[in-house]
Amino acid sequence: MRKKIVAGNWKMNTTYQEGIDLALEINKLVIEKANKDVIVVVSPPFTHISEVNKVVDNDRVFVAGQNCATETSGAYTGEISAEMLWSAGADFVILGHSERRSYYGETNELLKIKVKKALEFNLTPIYCVGEVLAEREANNHFDVIKEQTEKVLFDLSKDDFEKVVIAYEPVWAIGTGKTASPEQAQEIHKFIRDLLVSKFGEAAKNTSILYGGSCKPSNAKELFANADVDGGLIGGAALNANDFLAIINAF
Ligand code: 13P
Repeated sequence: MRKKIVAGNWKMNTTYQEGIDLALEINKLVIEKANKDVIVVVSPPFTHISEVNKVVDNDRVFVAGQNCATETSGAYTGEISAEMLWSAGADFVILGHSERRSYYGETNELLKIKVKKALEFNLTPIYCVGEVLAEREANNHFDVIKEQTEKVLFDLSKDDFEKVVIAYEPVWAIGTGKTASPEQAQEIHKFIRDLLVSKFGEAAKNTSILYGGSCKPSNAKELFANADVDGGLIGGAALNANDFLAIINAF
């Protein structure tokens, strides 16, 4: 069955104590008020992961890293491996976020390795795709998303593919307050699903495809109402526990 997922990407926000306090607040609201059909994920900075994992109810709130290394271990100063994330309690890892692609030069070739590394260490990749504004304006967005999807995921075995979650995040909607319309989101989500079905068959009908980009309590319902939108990857609104809860309950 296709899973509903709402994941909060905290990006480089919160000091250690602020992060733990936010996790505690989210955990309390999720236990008391959240729709139990929704898988809730929080993705704090690396430094907070272990403690966040300890303070939340591990059956209700799952923890994600925001990136992982291409290598397993060794002399790679400053890197965090998939195994380290797993050993600190993470179940998920966000990979290929547009901020990683644009500010840190992450390519589809590199992300293909990261996705495999995450799977090797039992992390569920939340693999992000999405076009920049110029690509959409040039009507290239389908090609860009096709390439990001094919180059990174099409080499996976069917078993591994079934573990992957995808997030469509139009870059022009991230942190801008400009959300994709429900029709735009559905169009791309269906495009991604059809592409995945062409490669992996029926299994792709169970893939969760999340929407990200200025998703908030006021627009989550109309986005999540679409047939191929299975949840959200939330930035700014995930830093406010009440807003995050409202998005979780927007299905
Ligand atoms: P915003 O929700 O702040 O637009 O960020 C979206 C995002 O990048 C989540 O990964």
